[in-house]
Amino acid sequence: MNIDYKLLMDNAKEASKMSYSPFSKFAVGACVLMNSGKIYTGCNIENSSFGMTVCAERCAIFKAVSEGEKEIVAVAIYSPNEDDCFPCGACRQVMYEFQGKQEIEIITEKCNNLNIKKMSDFLPYGFRI
Ligand code: THU
Repeated sequence: MNIDYKLLMDNAKEASKMSYSPFSKFAVGACVLMNSGKIYTGCNIENSSFGMTVCAERCAIFKAVSEGEKEIVAVAIYSPNEDDCFPCGACRQVMYEFQGKQEIEIITEKCNNLNIKKMSDFLPYGFRI
């Protein structure tokens, strides 16, 4: 599939504006491209009971999976607070669960340049049953 990396990043940026992060003040947006060709966005959503917080990546992935999607092609992640906002360990594991035959591409941004990496750069020897 031809991946429009900039489109994914633009959507992740837009989604970061919806972030509910009054506690950390660390906004994050994500955009996942699924093998259907559709994209889904998500933002981090915090809670007064801190452990209930959900990351932007999982928000986007769960939206996609709840719509019947099963295979992630690419994920773009953006935070206005940090260059190269890399996914946390929990989100890496959730991404890995929905990796198809093709390795997932993970897109971040540093100094206005897109940084494109592979799932195995973030989670080598991933666990799946
Ligand atoms: N966060 C994400 O949304 N994605 C990540 O991969 C890292 C962390 C959020 C969770 C929390 O709302 C804030 O960033 C600070 O940890």
